[in-house]
Amino acid sequence: MDYLQIKGGAKLSGSIKISGAKNSALPVIAATILSDKPVTLTNLPNVVDIRTLLKLLGILGGTVNHTDTIATIDNGTMNSTKAVYEIVSQMRASILVLGPLLARFGECEVSLPGGCAIGQRPIDLHLKALESMGAKIEIKGGYVRAEAPNGLQGTRIVFDKITVGGTENIVMAASLAHGTTTIVNSAKEPEIVQLCEMIANAGVKIEGIGTSEIIIEGTGQKPLNFKEVEIIPDRIEAGTYLCAGAITASKITLENVNAKHIQASIDKLEAMGCNFQIEDNNITICGKERLKPINLITTEYPGFPTDMQAQFMAVATMAIGESMVEERLFENRFMHVSELNRLGADIWLKGSVASVKPVAELYGADVMATDLRASSALVLAGLVAQGTTNVHRIYHLDRGYDNLEGKLKKLGADIQRLSE
Ligand code: UD1
Repeated sequence: MDYLQIKGGAKLSGSIKISGAKNSALPVIAATILSDKPVTLTNLPNVVDIRTLLKLLGILGGTVNHTDTIATIDNGTMNSTKAVYEIVSQMRASILVLGPLLARFGECEVSLPGGCAIGQRPIDLHLKALESMGAKIEIKGGYVRAEAPNGLQGTRIVFDKITVGGTENIVMAASLAHGTTTIVNSAKEPEIVQLCEMIANAGVKIEGIGTSEIIIEGTGQKPLNFKEVEIIPDRIEAGTYLCAGAITASKITLENVNAKHIQASIDKLEAMGCNFQIEDNNITICGKERLKPINLITTEYPGFPTDMQAQFMAVATMAIGESMVEERLFENRFMHVSELNRLGADIWLKGSVASVKPVAELYGADVMATDLRASSALVLAGLVAQGTTNVHRIYHLDRGYDNLEGKLKKLGADIQRLSE
């Protein structure tokens, strides 16, 4: 198994290019199931999760041609509707094939994703919404079996809770349904906007893109014909590198970023004392020594993203006062706290709130990555910890960060990938 070895203390400088967004590429790849014609996707991130979902399409009979950042997918050859446990258990986002498979083929079986390190993460809202569109759903043998032999029926769906994956599944299902679907309390993340635009560009009438009420007129089971899709820049990867600039008090530039998508992170880093220059698709952060403490609460877009919570906690360890971090989306997303404390941080947890007390220094140690974003928080801490930090179990990082150590090395970090 690989691990990352970081020798802390190096200042960063220079520029790197941000990759395409994993969380946008995944629903876009799932949406290709809505078509029986080839579609090309560009600016894909070169990460394990993308390869996993493309592999699933291949298992379903799709024809996939994939290089590092481009894939051409032809789901005209698809001949199975069973998303097997072996793939879904590797990546929860495989549940995104549920809506499109059911909408196009009138039936499917998708393995239940189960829990994960950051909490229970149920899919009840996805299933309830599909049922209200006329699907018959049963859970048997660890699989969701869904049927709608005459197609799904458009209806009004009110999500009890804002769900990114749930909104994506229903947007895809609704695009091939009979009649109009209105999704109330939908998610508004940029990734949802990209998915809706991809489907709208294929001729489906969609109103309310980027708002909390999306109205979709389905094609009545007629497959879509997609235009080429360029995946949007990864706002979480970008936010993570901004945190690298902040924690090391360095000046670095990120290319291929949409500043609007990371406004919540920019605002918090500005409040901590960092400065920004934004020009077209480039952002330069000028980090500062003696960062101010922050208070942050995770919430849905455009609020502060839960996917940036762990990285900000790492940065907050270097602030000159006590910071407060509240996690409101996932019940167990604090696994990085004990690992950061192993590096000398002083973080106290009470329920869903962490208080991060100032410490003079962090010190290198062996630490364990527990989930994707927690892993990057440990790498950030390693950049400033005195001595050597070894971050183990980095398969979590490889799921979602494209060439993390290569990009950090380019910025001047002393980091290398080694084998246990
Ligand atoms: C997506 C992102 C993930 C991000 C999360 C929140 C992808 C591949 N993953 O995950 O990186 O952290 O959004 O921004 O895009 N919930 C239910 N029932 C459901 C569905 C969700 O109770 O049926 C709850 C979840 O447990 C969680 C909250 O709703 O507490 C939000 O989850 P959701 O937005 O669905 O997250 P994902 O789509 O899984």
